[in-house]
Amino acid sequence: MFDPHKAGEIAVSVQNLGLIYKTTIDKKLSLTNRVKHLGRGTKQTRIVNALDGVNLDIDYGNVLGVVGANGAGKSTMMRVISGILPPTSGRVEVYGKVSTLLALGVGFNKQLTGRENVILGGLASGLSRDEIESHFEEIADFAELGEAIDAPMRTYSSGMYARLGFSVAVTVKPDILIVDEALSTGDARFKEKSLAKLKELRGDNRALILVSHALGTIRDVCNDVAWLHKGKLIQRGMPNDVVDAYQEFLAVGKSAVVNEDV
Ligand SMILES: Nc1ncnc2c1ncn2[C@@H]1O[C@H](COP(=O)(O)OP(=O)(O)OP(=O)(O)O)[C@@H](O)[C@H]1O
Ligand SMILES: [Mg+2]
Repeated sequence: MFDPHKAGEIAVSVQNLGLIYKTTIDKKLSLTNRVKHLGRGTKQTRIVNALDGVNLDIDYGNVLGVVGANGAGKSTMMRVISGILPPTSGRVEVYGKVSTLLALGVGFNKQLTGRENVILGGLASGLSRDEIESHFEEIADFAELGEAIDAPMRTYSSGMYARLGFSVAVTVKPDILIVDEALSTGDARFKEKSLAKLKELRGDNRALILVSHALGTIRDVCNDVAWLHKGKLIQRGMPNDVVDAYQEFLAVGKSAVVNEDV
């Protein structure tokens, strides 16, 4: 099923990417303000520049780690790359099929069982019934959900939910795989198994993007790292160089809490 790409071929090209979130919020007004605003709406628009002129090419054969503080824009960038969010400016070109954990996780219907979700998700992503059946056991085994595979997903813990999403993603073996923090909810043993699986996937010249606060894992698994901060790409390069710089920034910013491996 997988048509191997050549190492060095572009997988994803992020060009001058900008994303602005506009949310209307109901402002609670004080009494005087309520009098002043009488008759006028109290809705305010909150504008967040989540991504601001980001340029980033990701080649096949690479594992790109994405690091950055909470709210840096990492998940937003992954949503834009996976086509869930349209960019406000700039563009993203994807050469290959994208199957994201994020999209898979979001696509799960909590009222349905794990089994039903895997089958529906497979059909939705264009697999035939036979292909799904042939993958099903592998997915269920990897997720190790036992009988819970036939329980409604609303009864799953967040770790169980992530396990199933991760299992689908690594079994379907997309050309481009985006893993946004999904490893962090797994327990230590599942995390180890998932990392081994990710390392295995590196072999076929796929493009992997791993968003994580687990900086040890980033150093270990990735061969390329991008650091985002407040929507901007701050640094991109060799894992140790970029992670060192980011950790130094965290230490100086006295927010070393994020340093911890999760
Ligand atoms: N749906 C949304 N509507 C409005 N603002 C949003 C939305 N999603 C994210 N934001 C804002 O965009 C910015 C970037 O958020 P994003 O989730 O991309 O950060 P992140 O780097 O993934 O952070 P974390 O490490 O916490 O996962 C934040 O300021 C956040 O508040
Ligand atoms: Mg995020």
